[in-house]
Amino acid sequence: MTSGVGAPTRAKITARTLRTDRWWLPPLMTNLGLLAFVVYATIRSFMGKWYWVGEYGYLTPFYSPCLSDSCLPGASHFGTPLPELPGWVPLGFIALPFLLGFRLTCYYYRKAYYRSVWQSPPACAVAEPHGSYSGETRLPLVVQNAHRYFFYVAVLVSVVNTYDAVVAFTHGLGLGNVILLVNVVLLWAYTVSCHSCRHVVGGRLKHFSKHPVRYRAWTLVSRLNARHMQLAWTTLGTLVLTDLYVMLVASGAISDLRII
Ligand code: FES
Repeated sequence: MTSGVGAPTRAKITARTLRTDRWWLPPLMTNLGLLAFVVYATIRSFMGKWYWVGEYGYLTPFYSPCLSDSCLPGASHFGTPLPELPGWVPLGFIALPFLLGFRLTCYYYRKAYYRSVWQSPPACAVAEPHGSYSGETRLPLVVQNAHRYFFYVAVLVSVVNTYDAVVAFTHGLGLGNVILLVNVVLLWAYTVSCHSCRHVVGGRLKHFSKHPVRYRAWTLVSRLNARHMQLAWTTLGTLVLTDLYVMLVASGAISDLRII
């Protein structure tokens, strides 16, 4: 190894780390959390059922927008420009790759999975197992630079999810409405707290004093940005909870708690 901890100028320590605390715990928790989400989201996306509660207008975010003739009647808020799809194609396939791209290239998630999955390095003062380091300058990691473009699509998807949540209110008010609403508010908070959003709002300005509106917006985004990690995890949780609730009501396993 000629770079990193194996570089000729570094102290020759053969042990991978001299740390005696449980440094492996945070990467392990991150791995388990991400794995749980990926498994759940994959199963649900390919399930092809229990995604729409016609009576109350609840549509799970995993199937939105639903744009094909395969979608249940009423679930397609934006029409069905696409024909019937084979069973192995997830009905939310239009938005899913972009949402996946948005999360995969997110600055926080990069930190999380570079440390936990890629172990580069797994923790402070713990050597990584890789012999060389090319950062994000080559394929596949150079694709991380596309994050700003995924951000624009994520904004569109948040608009679609907001529309879904608002449409559901035309069917009355139940616990499902509250869950959809909380989910969409948190999704907006996560999307707006994105580092790319912060740059779009207040980047490349030489004089904040000459752009008071953008400065104010940048200040607000910056405040949210400081909570980006918490929002990243919270929204993974609310996405699962929202989908789970819609699935349970749609399948008849539970009844929606009606308020009005
Ligand atoms: Fe996390 Fe953009 S930095 S979503």
